[in-house]
Amino acid sequence: MQQLPVLKLQEIADELAASGQRVKVLWQEPGSLAFVARGREYRSEFHINDSDEVTYMIRGTMNLHYRTPEGKEEIAVIPEGSTNWMPPGVPHSPRFPPDAFALIVERQRHAGEVDKFHWYCQSCGNFLHEETFVVSDYRVDPVSKAYARFFEDEDARTCKKCGTVMPNALAQAKKTT
Ligand SMILES: [Fe+2]
Repeated sequence: MQQLPVLKLQEIADELAASGQRVKVLWQEPGSLAFVARGREYRSEFHINDSDEVTYMIRGTMNLHYRTPEGKEEIAVIPEGSTNWMPPGVPHSPRFPPDAFALIVERQRHAGEVDKFHWYCQSCGNFLHEETFVVSDYRVDPVSKAYARFFEDEDARTCKKCGTVMPNALAQAKKTT
């Protein structure tokens, strides 16, 4: 049997802060996938996946935006040292700054399972765009690739209802970090 991992969350947070990396995967097993994430200042999309999700705030506070089945946006505030459980299938948008750190526990995706990102217009709330991606290995950072595809596509960021263009927040974040 392999040695059981015992990992120090504060040290991992320090390591991420020093390296500038956004995510460190702790383990990836069929029933449990865990990683420590730094906040992404440009997050505005909602993530939809079929896994339960547990969040524990190691450092800083998370505003966990989520959408009800009626399409209403709500916010669960998760302060440092607090934890939250998110049922599968809830569109959610974890918003926390780059100097805040969260432990996220999900499970490995089943074969053929597809994760989705949905963006909404910040002016009128109209649905903007969907990106889909397969999380076969979290270490290749499929999430960052989905952001890049959206933000590099101005048409995807343009509201078809009111014409508002969502700014390329990824490019702005690169300038300041
Ligand atoms: Fe709009």
